[in-house]
Amino acid sequence: MILPIVVILCGPVGTEVSEVAPPARLSGGLAASANLRCEYLVDPLCVDRTTPRLSWEMVDARRGAVQTAYQVLVADDTERLNAGDGNLWDSGKVDSDQSIQIVYAGKPLGSRMRVWWKVRVWDHQGQPSAWSVPASWSMGLLKRSDWQAKWVGDAAPPPENTDPLPPPMLRKEFRLADTSGIKRATAYVTALGFYELRINGQRVGDHVLAPEWTDYSKRIQYQTYDVTDLLSPSSNAVGVMLGDGWYAGRIGLSGIVPGGPPRGIYGRQPRFLMQLEIEHASGRIGRLVSDGSWKLTTAGPIRVGDLLDGETYDARREMPGWDAPGFDDSTWSPVGVFDSPTAVLVTQPNEPIRVVREIKPVSVNEQQPGVYVFDLGQNMVGWCRLTASGSPGDEVTLRHAEVLNPDGSIYTANLRSAAQTDRYTLSGDGPETFEPHFTYHGFRYVEVTGLREEPKLDALTGCVVHSAAPEVGEFECSSPMLNQLWHNILWTQRANMHSIPTDCPQRDERLGWMGDILAFAQTACFNMDMAAFYTKWIPDVRDAQTADGRYPDFAPHPFDPAARFSGVPAWGDAGVFVPWCAYRNYGDKRMIEEHLQSACRWIDWIHANNPDLLWKNKRHNDYGDWLNADTLQLEGWPKTGAGMPKDAFATAFFARSTELVSKMAAVLGRDLEAERYGALAAQIRTAFNRAYVQPDARIERDTQAGYAIALHFGLLPEELRSVAAKRMVDCFQRYNGQISTGFHSTICLMRELTRNGYNEEAYRLINNREMPSWGYAIDHGATTIWERWDGYVEGRGFQNPGMNSFAHYAIGSVGEWMYRTILGINPDPDVPAYKRFIIRPQPGGDLTWARGSYHSIHGRIASEWRVDGSRIALDVTVPANTSATLYVPTSDPDSVTEGGIPAAKADGVRFIKVEDGAAVYQLGAGQYKFVAKRATQPARP
Ligand code: BGC
Repeated sequence: MILPIVVILCGPVGTEVSEVAPPARLSGGLAASANLRCEYLVDPLCVDRTTPRLSWEMVDARRGAVQTAYQVLVADDTERLNAGDGNLWDSGKVDSDQSIQIVYAGKPLGSRMRVWWKVRVWDHQGQPSAWSVPASWSMGLLKRSDWQAKWVGDAAPPPENTDPLPPPMLRKEFRLADTSGIKRATAYVTALGFYELRINGQRVGDHVLAPEWTDYSKRIQYQTYDVTDLLSPSSNAVGVMLGDGWYAGRIGLSGIVPGGPPRGIYGRQPRFLMQLEIEHASGRIGRLVSDGSWKLTTAGPIRVGDLLDGETYDARREMPGWDAPGFDDSTWSPVGVFDSPTAVLVTQPNEPIRVVREIKPVSVNEQQPGVYVFDLGQNMVGWCRLTASGSPGDEVTLRHAEVLNPDGSIYTANLRSAAQTDRYTLSGDGPETFEPHFTYHGFRYVEVTGLREEPKLDALTGCVVHSAAPEVGEFECSSPMLNQLWHNILWTQRANMHSIPTDCPQRDERLGWMGDILAFAQTACFNMDMAAFYTKWIPDVRDAQTADGRYPDFAPHPFDPAARFSGVPAWGDAGVFVPWCAYRNYGDKRMIEEHLQSACRWIDWIHANNPDLLWKNKRHNDYGDWLNADTLQLEGWPKTGAGMPKDAFATAFFARSTELVSKMAAVLGRDLEAERYGALAAQIRTAFNRAYVQPDARIERDTQAGYAIALHFGLLPEELRSVAAKRMVDCFQRYNGQISTGFHSTICLMRELTRNGYNEEAYRLINNREMPSWGYAIDHGATTIWERWDGYVEGRGFQNPGMNSFAHYAIGSVGEWMYRTILGINPDPDVPAYKRFIIRPQPGGDLTWARGSYHSIHGRIASEWRVDGSRIALDVTVPANTSATLYVPTSDPDSVTEGGIPAAKADGVRFIKVEDGAAVYQLGAGQYKFVAKRATQPARP
């Protein structure tokens, strides 16, 4: 059976990158600073840190450019700032090369303050740059008493049943008492559930699915919008639509709690809170708040809005003008006013969920009479915009699926109970355009029924929706298959960033499964700037930590983590791995400082239950190296031999997490804790070796995964490493040369092959097209990463529909290997945030060229190589104010030139040593062009 899905091998996919920020255009000075950010965001409208941190990138094309000093000015108005008066903070000239995580140290910042800032830097010759283009940030409502708004919602109590309820619409008209003019108007808004806010007929902001997902019993995020341009000097109206969202709708696994409700886990009905503050020219502050004077109806066009099931919309119920002044709301009821929840209100620290891009279908096919199946050409996440015509009352239905059945119909069995279905009842008023409001779907194919006419291809648009973290990675090479793999990894990440890192976007799950992001965290950072996203999610993890120290299996955790789904090896450990990954990539000490105690509690809990240091007790759901090749359903495939023993797997994570906790403490200068956890980690490693490793380096059960993890986590004594690596490679024999790893061991395997002299084996695996492999999935139409190696097998069909997503990122963690090995971009092991880094491309397989980049917090790092006969050319970009160690793969270090002259003599280049078939150089900032004789492949150890 051939799966009727089209292989889309995209052209140069490396172009799918949005610029982080254009460099500032400045006069004077050779250096400049650009991409000014406050708490990782560009001009954030709502910051609740009273000592926010500032970052910029030095821009200076000269070789060896470094920042030797900086000066920051912060003022409360732009004129002051332009005049050079930093009335809130003038840092003075600070002799420092630091350009990230600069802590604001000026006058106290109060609620609502909007401030402007600029920076100048001194270069390596002691020359100051011009001032940067100014940036700004605004403070949120810092005290509870700043909020005068009341929580409002439907006054009518919900029915006893658990049926979905029609989403309420709320409105309020108001006039401005002060006619002196509006200087600034700011709306502070949140909901329990989702909200879509409108003022005077206009949509406010571009956030969707706001205020996003937190544990609503602990923290509720609010958003801030500048609505100055939406208000009129006279009559105004605010209109709001509420949706159930994660708060009141169905969420993944809802219903797992014995006797628990299928929906409304946090609450049955959505609620709303808004405070609109208007600064008049006269200096007066006007305020409009949600309160008992607002009106509400549940008779609007959205009849059902459910995150998993989809939206039902009846256009005949639309009420034109409901969100503008002058609408007759006499049939609407007064809202109910409710007590404030006990949770704290916090600003949203990361980029909102948005419609990030739109894609057009590649085909539409009438699969049965009146049943049209659109193919978007890409497994994506979000929803469709559909334009249709018909008679009043016609119902058009859109069902979404990731793959097709052999007959071309959509395959929905793997969605489990998630309907992913949008229904529109037409008003009959000419061509009508629909888009859902309070749901999202994971799909490539859309089945449309109920149309009177055959739809044109352009009747439908795919709106791609996710947390809008900037994309910062580029990758392209001479293998179209590997380009497609990189593309699939990126699309799978897009599919799984909805306020939290999810497992999948389509079935009735979509939870913040911790084991998945543990494996994918570094790849995620290469693809997108995850700093703000992790800043948001790591507190979600802490919120779900149990009193005895257990981290949850997923965060947020709405099902009582003390009772279930917590304390699992490699899932709970994400509570240590991910903050550490964030620190390594972004140098965020504050994040570590706020998290350390929580991370220690996790280790202490494991230790207390496993005093002999082997994690044998309390592994709860104990998933192990998830979906390793023992779960493959292939004829002739071994039933066992892939999964390492679960206690060894758990102990390996215990050792590694403990070591990372020690490193966190060391970063913070907490020597006692660093020593204590460092010593404990060493003891756990000893226990691991004693229990699971033979003197001849055989690790119990002799699996690819066991060696990969033990090597990658540094568990083995130095003298056993090369033998263990050899054993790891020997393990391929039992699998006919194939990979057999699961979620957690796959990236370990790839990296340890390369590190231990088996780079060609790693290339063989990544280029493989036999089942199981990334290439097999691509050859069978994958445009995202499959949950299972054998999600679909020719001749056999789909895997068990109970668990068979086609957009799970865990084995896409190989993306990290692609950046590190093919492009060669690596962090320095001792210096965070790419202030110093390593460029070490390790060409292999039959690749003849590769190029790509990573826009780090310090600037854009780029690497490009081409082999041509016996020569390799290597172009490298090292951002200003950073330095790099470069490994030029060559068999003849004397042959290396840069810019046509011997490399060691080139400006900004210092020869260090020859190592493992590479000439090693220290590079200052700049752009370089190296040429060398190619390395012959190093002999296998
Ligand atoms: C999810 C996984 C998750 C796992 C726990 C699954 O249903 O989709 O990705 O990590 O459960 O084993």
